Amino acid sequence: MNGFMLAGLCYVASNNLLCNLACEISMTTDFSLHTPNTGADMSTSANAGTSGTNAATSVAHAERFAELIDLLARDHTLTHEQWRVLYTLHAAYLAAVASGTTDPAFEHALATLFERAKTLRDEIYGRTVFLRGLLEVSNYCKNDCFYCGIRAHNTNLTRYRLSLDEILESCAIGYSLGYRTFVLQGGEDPHFPYGDVVAALHKTYPDCALTVSAGELSRAEYQALYDAGARRYLLRHETANACHYGQLHPHAMNLEERKRCLYTLRDIGFQVGSGFLVGAPFETPDTWAENMEFLHELDPHMIGIGPFIPHKDTPFATCAPGSVEATLFSLACLRLAHPYALLPATTALATLAPNGRIRALDAGANVIMPNISPQTHRDDYALYNHKLASGLEAVECHQALVEDLERHGYHTLATRGDSLLPTT
Ligand code: 5AD
Repeated sequence: MNGFMLAGLCYVASNNLLCNLACEISMTTDFSLHTPNTGADMSTSANAGTSGTNAATSVAHAERFAELIDLLARDHTLTHEQWRVLYTLHAAYLAAVASGTTDPAFEHALATLFERAKTLRDEIYGRTVFLRGLLEVSNYCKNDCFYCGIRAHNTNLTRYRLSLDEILESCAIGYSLGYRTFVLQGGEDPHFPYGDVVAALHKTYPDCALTVSAGELSRAEYQALYDAGARRYLLRHETANACHYGQLHPHAMNLEERKRCLYTLRDIGFQVGSGFLVGAPFETPDTWAENMEFLHELDPHMIGIGPFIPHKDTPFATCAPGSVEATLFSLACLRLAHPYALLPATTALATLAPNGRIRALDAGANVIMPNISPQTHRDDYALYNHKLASGLEAVECHQALVEDLERHGYHTLATRGDSLLPTT
């Protein structure tokens, strides 16, 4: 471990001393060896697939999993304990598969979950995949999130801000291809004129939905964006457990403020998107369950989740990435819990698996956000290692993307693709 890593560890450790005690998470945890805690203390023992597994146990675990999925499909939610057990059963299954054990009963239960999620998506949204043109407008960021490649302390990248002309040019290309939603995403950059850009786009493309994803702002700043014409805002909560939040972020950030922003956005009238990192360092069955509980409470229009992927210039550089399977499982659970939510097949998932996008759609997702930023700056928006910014992830390959979707039974439409979440 180099000095930078050590400093990062110490920083995170001191940041979370009290929190960690409360969370009963060992301060000696080695980031580089991090693997998801599969919750050995769970009330229904779920060591399926580990040594000593017998066929009867495996079937019992598959049955318990299937029961919980039935409950989820019926009630669209579970208790904390049920979420925790569901996660733990799945994590145990993944561990078994990783050690070479096959578990046909569990495989069947999991395939049923994916099938139900896909069928529910079909019932509500059909096979239409909504496209959003993603513009990575600025990689300046005043924050220092431990997982993120554009964090303020990373000096190993060239900072940029797109000009209004660059943005208008990119949107013109996107519009001609049928994009009717543009997403302005950036770091928390107080000097990027989000309001002016939104106003200009709203004037040029009054038929398009404008989404902003620019982090935590004051109520007045959110209101100004709304008044300029933005109607959607993406702000992932990242993790809904306060201790875990402290382990992923510096002191200056806290979960309460994050939640305040999300509720303020909703109160103003935005269609709100939130979401979390799957397999982030220090994730446990409890933190995952709390994500599901918080999303139930918030009931957002959009839910974006993707696997954590390490970035070489962050304190989490040597942490293990989240898994494709855990992300697909989480997506399918989210579809059953939030039938009307817009669920993107995220770039992070496509980065880890070449077929990640289609697998996400087959697990209930219904949105893809191709990158329409000018190619010159794409590599500088590296949130994590090897982030895809070309191929089917990018606007240049629009036709190939459409054909790939069609091959798998999906189609796109030149519409805004608003959420069908009933308004309360
Ligand atoms: N791995 C995966 N996703 C990341 N993000 C930031 N850094 C990473 C990473 N290392 C995600 C965060 C953020 C979104 C814009 O990108 O969840 O909300």
